Amino acid sequence: KKDGYDTFMLKEIYEQPHVIAETLRGRIVNQKIVLDELNDIDFHQFNKVYFVACGTAYHASLCGSQVLERATKLPVIATVASEFRYNDPLVDEQTLAIFVSQSGETADTLAALRLAKEKGATTIAIANVLGSTISRDANYVLYTCAGPEIAVASTKAYTTQLVLLILLAYYIAQELGKEIDHELIQQLNTIPQYVENILKDHSIFENYAKMLENLHDAYFIGRSLDYASVLEGALKLKEVSYVHADAYVAGELKHGPIALIEDGSVVIAVATQPHIAAKTISNIQETMARGARVILLTTHGEEVKNVENTYYLPDVVPTLQAILVAIPLQLIAYYTACIKGCDVDKPRNLAKSVTVE
Ligand code: M6R
Repeated sequence: KKDGYDTFMLKEIYEQPHVIAETLRGRIVNQKIVLDELNDIDFHQFNKVYFVACGTAYHASLCGSQVLERATKLPVIATVASEFRYNDPLVDEQTLAIFVSQSGETADTLAALRLAKEKGATTIAIANVLGSTISRDANYVLYTCAGPEIAVASTKAYTTQLVLLILLAYYIAQELGKEIDHELIQQLNTIPQYVENILKDHSIFENYAKMLENLHDAYFIGRSLDYASVLEGALKLKEVSYVHADAYVAGELKHGPIALIEDGSVVIAVATQPHIAAKTISNIQETMARGARVILLTTHGEEVKNVENTYYLPDVVPTLQAILVAIPLQLIAYYTACIKGCDVDKPRNLAKSVTVE
């Protein structure tokens, strides 16, 4: 049932305020994070953490890995499952391995989970589908509460994964007795309302999409957490609209990709992390100097002169911007696909769950 929406993808994008609230429900009590499912883990036993996933779940993991590393000071590695399973990863009894999968049935992720268990790791699955294989095979499971995701392009599963991974990062930090960012914990509950507000701005993103409809290529840039966001933005755009999109760490532009920028190229830049925004902005200016048209998703205080389009995200702590900025990126991809007449719910060559290698 599409509940009056034209497509499942749009319905699922609009469900995000609700499912994010569901994913948070009962998990923050008196400023403390409560993940009862993990009660019997002693996190002091671990000396490193792996995140393993595919596609969108990998992008959520990239974000989760940065947040976890900062919060716990443990070394964290995020890797795609198809690489992990064949690269003899350095996993042992002191490793915590976190597997992220919406469906819980992705073949590479399941094989990677089996390998990590064989090597003695403690494994946690972050899954959406109740009773899925991953949730049965892992030592522990935490569910995102996104509800059924029908559209092939993942949207609400991604943002709920981000929410749960941020909760998990600070839960582990809390259990290790590390300092906790109380402002962040407090603001988590405000995220559904902010997402709702961004969704009301949908016509702005529809206009941005018009810049992309006749292009073959689009370039996404960001640094730090914003890099995970642009990887996901580029994946969303290419899978539903077939516009070739690549995401680059903004600092890598000069090391090659800037050769591609010419008059009329479109660059979608994300600059939400204050410690690094000025650097990304200088990269944006370099692309503009070569004729790029820029769509900038940023926060107030990071104004850039002469940028054709700037969208200001609400003022929340930087880590939580990863959740908010996903919404404009999803809508830009969605509207580009619609303008081009693509079958957004069932993009060519893709399956909802990749159960073969
Ligand atoms: O079910 P999973 O989360 O394990 O799926 C992983 C990827 O196959 C999935 O995220 C894929 O990249 C989607 N098409 C993204 O929109």
